[in-house]
Amino acid sequence: MRDINQFTITQAVKDSFRTEAGSRFEKLLHGFLDHLHDFTRENQITHEEWMGVLNFLYDCGQISTPERHEFILLSDVVGFSALVDLINSKGGATEGSNLGPFYLDDAPRKKLGADLAGGREGACVLVHGKVTDTLHKPLPGAIVDTWQADGAGTYPIQEQAQGQDKMDLRGIFETDDQGRYYYTTILPKPYTVPFDGPVGRLLRAGDRHAWRAAHLHYIIRHPGMNAITTEIFFEGTEYTDNDAVFGVRKSLLARVLPARDVAALGYDLDREPDAVCEFDFVLAPEG
Ligand code: BEZ
Ligand code: FE
Repeated sequence: MRDINQFTITQAVKDSFRTEAGSRFEKLLHGFLDHLHDFTRENQITHEEWMGVLNFLYDCGQISTPERHEFILLSDVVGFSALVDLINSKGGATEGSNLGPFYLDDAPRKKLGADLAGGREGACVLVHGKVTDTLHKPLPGAIVDTWQADGAGTYPIQEQAQGQDKMDLRGIFETDDQGRYYYTTILPKPYTVPFDGPVGRLLRAGDRHAWRAAHLHYIIRHPGMNAITTEIFFEGTEYTDNDAVFGVRKSLLARVLPARDVAALGYDLDREPDAVCEFDFVLAPEG
């Protein structure tokens, strides 16, 4: 007869699962149980505290919809999403950062030099740079998939009910024979992650704000290379020191400078830029 007490219970639970010895599943399951049980023992968790956790998770499920995934938001604000991004960033490659909830996998293809602003107000900025491998060799034919908020910090997809086209402020470009990408757009503004649900309660309980630093989102792909999901932030702008989802890295800060000598770049642009933001992406080989 096994004797279950607060010290033997962890092994008993692990033994109750029939898992393949040495498998990844077994390692993760056992590790998770060990950590959770240790945490519970070390902190002598009360019934009330445990019910508080379960009810919080229940509320996260209740508010979630196909458009709103409160568990991802929870993972974002406690830094798990960023931690997984950081762990999976390959040495020498551009660091990864949040995908966020507004990615669409069928954005329109755009020609290099196109303007993504769609007539929106705001200073026109040329965003440009190279996609290279880790040895700085340019990668022609790389796919640069980008999406962003507008000058009020709103994604067009959030305002479809107000007549906005969800495909605005996004596009897919292909780098030219020198590995260059370039397009014009308006600078996005910071915005808040949703804080009207349980994750918002958690932020308020910890006296935290819900603001994200202004950013441009990217997925960069090239055959034979590891794709990266990342974001560019802007030096000297608000919340770069305390982004609500821990997405900002020093290496992802770009400068926005007044446009000078843009003609010398030899780009065929649809719109004359007021400002320029340069950022190079680096992909590591697969494997
Ligand atoms: C975003 O970057 O779009 C985002 C990221 C995390 C939570 C909410 C929004
Ligand atoms: Fe975003």
